[in-house]
Amino acid sequence: MKAKSTPTHVHLETFGCQMNEYDSELVRSLLKQDGFVFTDERERADVILMNTCAIRENAHNKVYKHLSELKKLKRQRPLVVGVLGCMAQNLKEELTDIQPLVDVLAGPDAYRQLPMLIRSAMLSQVEGLNQKELAVDLSEYETYHDIVPDRNDGVNAWIAVMRGCDNFCSFCVVPYTRGRERSRVPEGIVQEARRIAEQGFKQITLLGQNVNSYRFGDWDFARLITAVADVPGIERVRFTSPHPKDFPLSLLEAVVSHPNICKQIHLPLQSGSDRILSLMNRTYTNKEYRALVDRIRTLRADIVLSTDLICGFCGESDAEFAETYRLVEEIRFHSAFIFKYSERKNTIAARKLSDDVSEPVKTDRVTRLFDLQRNISYERNREYLETTIPVLVEGDAKRSAAQGMGKSDGNITVIWDKCAISSQPGDMVSLAIYDASSTTLYAARPPVN
Ligand code: 5AD
Ligand code: SF4
Repeated sequence: MKAKSTPTHVHLETFGCQMNEYDSELVRSLLKQDGFVFTDERERADVILMNTCAIRENAHNKVYKHLSELKKLKRQRPLVVGVLGCMAQNLKEELTDIQPLVDVLAGPDAYRQLPMLIRSAMLSQVEGLNQKELAVDLSEYETYHDIVPDRNDGVNAWIAVMRGCDNFCSFCVVPYTRGRERSRVPEGIVQEARRIAEQGFKQITLLGQNVNSYRFGDWDFARLITAVADVPGIERVRFTSPHPKDFPLSLLEAVVSHPNICKQIHLPLQSGSDRILSLMNRTYTNKEYRALVDRIRTLRADIVLSTDLICGFCGESDAEFAETYRLVEEIRFHSAFIFKYSERKNTIAARKLSDDVSEPVKTDRVTRLFDLQRNISYERNREYLETTIPVLVEGDAKRSAAQGMGKSDGNITVIWDKCAISSQPGDMVSLAIYDASSTTLYAARPPVN
């Protein structure tokens, strides 16, 4: 057993959405408070934690692959392996049965118990019992409102304002893995935003599985985002992921009237067919969605819209897919995340519908929609040519440290040569766009008049 004074080293890997990134910041904070030390190296760790995602099959497979890589490490030395987040919650039986190497399972509402669970698992290993430590109960109240996340340095800070989801879209596992909706006290959120501004972050992204259904007493999301945008020093406020059903005029007006709320809305569509939308339990029709887009664009023509689309949902015919294709052609989103439907355990679709669109047909539909969207994104991005736009600098480009990278107000990636433009992360710079691809804007120093 380790001497009491030797700290326990934890390595934490995060998969999935921004909410998981945020939850990992909470986990780091909770464990550091308890004396644990974090390491970037798996090889040095006494404890390896994976904060997992269960939303689609490939996310799930990725976690399994990483877990099986740990088998070898675990044979070499004492090691506690923990699975956190959505997969822990949803697959508690399966994971513990087929993955004997998992010692700790903690669902998204159980992170406060993690220090205790890890210590028990370590002790049990020393005693040769190798008992599994499970905490997977969902809570109606847990919002971690009093935990200050251990944020990475950077330009953007996330604040989760609500957790869980009550929508039960028939394809989605989130209501089962993350439980019922609950919102955080607004005063605490605004206070956190002030602290974030004081720490030098320039952007806040408000997070929630269904962020715009935020409600606390007489506070709704429009009032909350306005209060956050009013905090001095915050240059940009974003939010994700909203549901189209919760966009009252007050929220649209808040977005368009506040200069520092980004003119960008992610508006998950999923399908353009009314029959499929109804089977998905999305609660809006093609026409209602279209009307919302028109309302948004009437208020602000240059707003950047993005979406999520699912191809090959249960029973989707060629004609129904064609309706999605047509609507995407008509609306001309700036960008879209396009997914093949993948059946998730326990969901309404898994229980009541049949995953009957063949794999090749799903692939064909995803490819066709992807090609369409790539052309639209290309044309949309080329609308920025010869304009000068404000860019929030984030750091180096992924591909080359000789290039800088930042984001436009609409969240489009902008890249430039660092030898031509010098800037620091967090700077807001005005850049001239001289070229554009479907994913990236290329910038130069603006011409001097
Ligand atoms: N299959 C495919 N895509 C899914 N999504 C959620 N569940 C599934 C599923 N079972 C997509 C939706 C959602 C995004 C976060 O992930 O498009 O908006
Ligand atoms: Fe899933 Fe629908 Fe809730 Fe989004 S709104 S998390 S897709 S159930």
